[in-house]
Amino acid sequence: MSVAGLEICELSKSFAQGRRQVPVVRDFALSLREGEFVSLIGPSGCGKSTVLSIVAGLAEASAGEVRVLGRRVTRGGPDRGVVFQAPCLLPWLTARENVMLAVERVRPGASRTIQEWHAEQYLAMVGLASAGARRPAELSAGMRQRVALARAFALGSRVLLLDEPFGMLDSITRAELQDLLLELCGREPRTTLMVTHDVDEALLLSDRVAMMSAGPAATIGGIVEVPLSRPRARAALEDPTYAALRAQLLDFVEAQPIPA
Ligand SMILES: Nc1ncnc2c1ncn2[C@@H]1O[C@H](COP(=O)(O)OP(=O)(O)OP(=O)(O)O)[C@@H](O)[C@H]1O
Ligand SMILES: [Mg+2]
Repeated sequence: MSVAGLEICELSKSFAQGRRQVPVVRDFALSLREGEFVSLIGPSGCGKSTVLSIVAGLAEASAGEVRVLGRRVTRGGPDRGVVFQAPCLLPWLTARENVMLAVERVRPGASRTIQEWHAEQYLAMVGLASAGARRPAELSAGMRQRVALARAFALGSRVLLLDEPFGMLDSITRAELQDLLLELCGREPRTTLMVTHDVDEALLLSDRVAMMSAGPAATIGGIVEVPLSRPRARAALEDPTYAALRAQLLDFVEAQPIPA
């Protein structure tokens, strides 16, 4: 049997609240095949970002472990690229220089010209071929998130972790970036775990959608396979299978109690 791209094994996390330890996530288990795209949906505050930051190595689990291609990981590393809701670009660097940070890491021995060429390739891949010299403040929110995606792909990580990457964008820009991510993942498949509140976004992009129950002690409440063929485009949302899946996910979301 082949090794999973990403395994999250019986993960639990508690936070101290005064003297008490409050369990936020308990026995969360999920395994992604290499190259698989899985979305994680669930009520606000249930612990989705907590799970993602533990997988990224930015927070410590109270119990359980995370494996990338069969190897246990305990700290952050370039094998896991992360894109958050707000793009984390360095404001004093240009778009190209922000992408260069990833290229330099992956190709430390290459000449500056070669590194810049690669950075340009990734900028072009996200539709920003002519914006490389601009600083984040000179880019729109959608363009900044494009740079963040270019940097994540330039890092060449086997695993991509996305926490509501398009949550702060207007609906048109959001749809454009969903299409872009669909194209990028088609071109350079990565094992991807994406947190989202948007059921349509989850279905459009994912091979499976994992539904997280409301906390405390939240865990996976169910998993839905998305049998829409690939390569996929927005037209997949017209597929009759789609409406049934959408209803199933919405039923789950609506059945969850509102967190205290
Ligand atoms: N560092 C922390 N210290 C204490 N409690 C925390 C910490 N981080 C998160 N929590 C608590 O853990 C719970 C889950 O938070 P988390 O941010 O993971 O939820 P989420 O599912 O990502 O929510 P949203 O959908 O609103 O982004 C919340 O009750 C939150 O208050
Ligand atoms: Mg969150």
